[in-house]
Parts: sequence; C-alpha cells; structure tokens
Amino acid sequence: MARLTSKDIMDMKRSGEKISMITAYDYPTAYLCDKAGVEIILVGDSVGPFVLGYRDTRRVTLDDIIRHAAAVSRAVERAHVVGDMPFGTYYRPYVAVENAIKMVREAGVDSVKLEGGREVAGIVREITGSGIDVMGHIGFTPQRSTDTSVYPVRGLDVDEAEEILNDAYALVDAGVYAIVLEFVASQVAQLIREEVDVPVIGIGSGPHCDGQVLVLHDVIGLRVGEHPPYAAKYGDVAGEILYAVRKYVSEVKEGLFPHPSNYRSMDEPTYKEFINRVGRRKID
Ligand code: KIV
Repeated sequence: MARLTSKDIMDMKRSGEKISMITAYDYPTAYLCDKAGVEIILVGDSVGPFVLGYRDTRRVTLDDIIRHAAAVSRAVERAHVVGDMPFGTYYRPYVAVENAIKMVREAGVDSVKLEGGREVAGIVREITGSGIDVMGHIGFTPQRSTDTSVYPVRGLDVDEAEEILNDAYALVDAGVYAIVLEFVASQVAQLIREEVDVPVIGIGSGPHCDGQVLVLHDVIGLRVGEHPPYAAKYGDVAGEILYAVRKYVSEVKEGLFPHPSNYRSMDEPTYKEFINRVGRRKID
C-alpha cells in the first residue's frame, strides 16, 4: 500500500475532509496509529520530553529523531510520515537541506516539519527546492520559546494576530504543503484557514482548522504529569500499565507466575532417562 503524499493531504482540504494527525515515536504505536486510520503521523521533537525524559525539545538531536522516525517508517503503510527537524538543524540553508535529506534517506520520512514563520521562509524554499516537502509550524513554537506557561496562546492581540497571519502567507509563498498552528486564538486560526490554500492543522487553536494534531501520549493517557487543557484523552494507558505490571510483580512474589502455559517440560520417560544418565555420572 502506498503512503499518503503531501498532495493527498492538500486534496483533503479541497474536498473538505478533516485531517487527523498524531505523534508517534516507535514501531508498535506507529503501527497502531496507522491501523486506526490517522492520515499524518508526526515524529515530533516532543519525543524529547515525552519519551526520552529531556526537559524540553531543544535537547533533541538529529540522531534522536532519525532513530525514532526510522522505527515509525518501518511500521507505517498508509499514513504520511513527517519528521520534525530538531532545534539547531536548520539555521543555515545548506545545513537545513543536508539534514532534511538525511531524514528522508536514513529515516524514510515523507516530509519534514520545521518551526518558524517569515524568518525561515528562505530555508523552507531551499528544502522544497531540493525536492523535499515541508510542513510549517507557527503560533507557539516550542524550540524558540522560554515561555513556561502551560498554554501559551498566541494572537490574542491584533498586532500578534497580524504577525501570525503574515507568517502563514510567507510560508505558503515559500512552498509549504501544510501548516501547524500551535496555540493560536481560534478566530485567527479560522481566518488563516480561509486565507491560505494549504491545510491548516491546529493544536489548541480551536475547531475551525482543516485538521487537528495531538501528542499520542495525551490521547491515550500516557503523559507523565498533568493532562493539558487543550488535549483530548480517550484512554488510560498509564492506568493499564500500572495494573498489569503490579499484577505481574505480585504473581512473581506469590509464585503464581509462570503459569503452566508459559513453559514446557520434558515428558516423563525422557526425564527418567536424563536423571539416570546424570545420576550415573554423579556416582561415577
Ligand atoms: O513535536 C510535536 O509534537 C509537535 C506537535 C505539537 C505539533 O510539533
């Protein structure tokens, strides 16, 4: 089965079909997200805080993303796989193009995402010029922020809203096939969605986007720490893990695990033969 292309994603906006996007960082979860029918799987730099225990996304390296994205790519048959370009990997056009090519060659991603608006438009143009599709990311951009508030909404005042709109125009002009809008005031997100002809995918930016993106760990209930207000939670995987591992620990301690179905024994005649041989040897 061929994976969805950036054109397929753009066509979804034209046909009015909402786009679902989620992060995944490893083989089994990417396999399951793909089977569940999500259209875009993002190997986000959120792998840092969510999986690797880093304090923020700025510590994530290109090697981190490539390792995780390669695992995701091996699992995914239908969804479009996007690899996040980590902090410090696209500060100059030639560096950005070389690193984007590495992501495609070594991790098998279908496109790359990078954060920023007008200031990265030239870099976006270089990467798309090298034949690699780029997804933009504006509004709140964690790689550039030291803002530690839980829900740092952007575009709540007229000036900032206009800045974000101008960033969106610049990215489209530079050739992005889609834009993530993170924590943008909902009316601003709606206006951008109406203004640009590429899909606008929101996170914490209200219902008027062409699609939505969330971090997998929030959706399935596996976040370490408090669940954020902008995310949905449709499962309790943390609870399931605690239940299962606690039960395993208690069964080991009580001698209830392994169960007979978990191991094999010799048949009785073979066992006797074995004891005879070993016993004889012992006596000898
Ligand atoms: O890294 C990530 O998870 C992201 C999403 C929040 C869009 O960039």
